[in-house]
Amino acid sequence: MLQSTNRQLFQLGLFCSEPEKKNKIVNVSSVKQLSPFRYPGGKTWLVPVVRKWLQNRAEKPAELIEVFTGGGIIGLTAAHEQLAAHVTMIEIDPDVAAVWHTMLSNDAEWLARKILDFDLSLPNAQKAIEKTATDTKERAFQTILRNRTLHGGILAAGSGFLKHGENGKGITSRWYPETLSKRIRYIATFRDRITFIEGDGLQILKQNAERPDVAYFIDPPYTAPGKCAGKRLYRFYELDHDSLFDIACFVRGDFMMTYDNAESVRVMAEKRGFHVSTVPMKGTHHNEVFELLITPA
Ligand SMILES: C[S@@+](CC[C@H](N)C(=O)[O-])C[C@H]1O[C@@H](n2cnc3c(N)ncnc32)[C@H](O)[C@@H]1O
Repeated sequence: MLQSTNRQLFQLGLFCSEPEKKNKIVNVSSVKQLSPFRYPGGKTWLVPVVRKWLQNRAEKPAELIEVFTGGGIIGLTAAHEQLAAHVTMIEIDPDVAAVWHTMLSNDAEWLARKILDFDLSLPNAQKAIEKTATDTKERAFQTILRNRTLHGGILAAGSGFLKHGENGKGITSRWYPETLSKRIRYIATFRDRITFIEGDGLQILKQNAERPDVAYFIDPPYTAPGKCAGKRLYRFYELDHDSLFDIACFVRGDFMMTYDNAESVRVMAEKRGFHVSTVPMKGTHHNEVFELLITPA
């Protein structure tokens, strides 16, 4: 069954083994953007691949677990398109988690309105971000504000405000209040299909290991030895990658894991007999770069 999933994806031309490298880069504007985040390492470009992976199964998974949620485009798309009966999303960063808690609660409307009413300028943004948040929804607002006004959407320490942004508009260049509020309100319409857990994705993987009816989307911070891009992108970048691969060996459900194209990652995957393929994406400089897709053998 798992082998046939991989075969189907090959037949669909969605990913390939090197040296074929002939797949086209997905045009992200063709994907419905459901998340209000502008997330570093976000997987909007991978949505068509994940969609096919979930659709081309004999049975719809009872649950899709997005183990490292971040901006959560995969979980949101799966819930929106009902690619799984239920979606569970896990994130360890309390700031990012505050946004998910709020968006999936009755405070979603408060957040949407707060974004619409905020008068964005550099001093106002600084003041709002420096304020001590007294509850989850305020923390959620601060996180969205930081995410949309800091360089590259990077929430990790050391990130600075956008200086030029698009068309020299500085910090306002990625602040689209109507669009963001619309997305937050839209997520609220299908929130009953989503469970959010603030916690450690590895623990949740272990807890569900015996279940054959779960599919996992696993997009960890890219900090395996070799490239380590994730270190400057996320506050929670440290991960025991070997443990993650070990757990993936004994989960009974299907999984799709993504990683940067580092030799150390290939070695960890191949050592466990996983299937490794490459998928093209547009790099920071609009060049074509390849990421790894790792699936059960
Ligand atoms: C590569 S990003 C995920 C990006 C996401 N796929 C998207 O499309 O936006 C990895 C995320 O994992 C989170 N993270 C790191 N360690 C974690 C852990 N042990 N459990 C859950 N989340 C974790 C980071 O905070 C970060 O948001």
